[in-house]
Amino acid sequence: MLSKYFTALAAFATGAVLAANQTGPYHIHITGKTDKSIDGYGASYHAGAAIEALAYVAGPANGTSQEYYYNYLSYNTETGEVFQPGYIVWKLPLVGPNETTYVPEAMILESQGNWASNVAPAMFYPGDDTGAAVSFWDEGPDANHSVYLQGRDESGYTDARPEQGPGPIIDTTNWHLCYQYVGSGYWYETVSWVFSSPPSNPTCRPVNLALELI
Ligand SMILES: *[C@@H]1O[C@H](CO)[C@@H](O)[C@H](O)[C@H]1NC(C)=O
Ligand SMILES: *[C@@H]1O[C@H](CO)[C@@H](O)[C@H](O)[C@H]1NC(C)=O
Ligand SMILES: *[C@@H]1O[C@H](CO)[C@@H](O)[C@H](O)[C@H]1NC(C)=O
Ligand SMILES: *[C@@H]1O[C@H](CO)[C@@H](O)[C@H](O)[C@H]1NC(C)=O
Repeated sequence: MLSKYFTALAAFATGAVLAANQTGPYHIHITGKTDKSIDGYGASYHAGAAIEALAYVAGPANGTSQEYYYNYLSYNTETGEVFQPGYIVWKLPLVGPNETTYVPEAMILESQGNWASNVAPAMFYPGDDTGAAVSFWDEGPDANHSVYLQGRDESGYTDARPEQGPGPIIDTTNWHLCYQYVGSGYWYETVSWVFSSPPSNPTCRPVNLALELI
């Protein structure tokens, strides 16, 4: 999906508008990479005032706390074609006396929560201007809709001069389920990103996430 990534970057460079082209709703299907007993769905669990964690619930998805949207981050102003990456968005319901309104919350990977950890829990805070820019494999009839992040492989770096140039952009899927404290002190089994293996939290189990259109 390198081409898409660069297309999106090029779109930004040529001044394409930042858009919230939203698709969905989706369920987030969670399956174990090694532990095949893991088969369930993501759910928004209360973790503080208007803060949720993306928690794991076994079995079929049921209800709006398990429904998410995908906001594409750029599009071609002439054709309207949308480009990944995008944000996974949950809509926090605010129940008023007459109607329910919804606050969009883009998923972040909270890397600043614990400096002694290499585990970043997936969290939702109010607002969809910033978030974790994620992609998913959606091309072709056999697309598995698995969610991935792109990053630069620095494993080939040396201290030689002249320097060798940036490493390649790679697709990574370091999703895990980990028991941990999130938000203002809630203990959940949450979807998390692990920056490098092994995870510093021994409860973490590797999983795949897939966006399933409802
Ligand atoms: C789905 O959730 C509703 C409301 O909480 C509950 O009444 C219903 O039994 C659930 N259905 C399943 C299949 O779990
Ligand atoms: C994306 O949003 C822009 C601006 O609203 C619109 O012009 C374009 O058609 C949208 N693209 C799709 C695929 O919906
Ligand atoms: C709810 O509806 C009632 C009756 O129409 C109205 O008087 C009241 O101001 C509304 N409340 C809000 C918060 O909109
Ligand atoms: C999903 O498809 C992509 C692209 O073909 C592939 O790289 C990836 O390994 C697949 N993931 C799963 C969980 O099947």
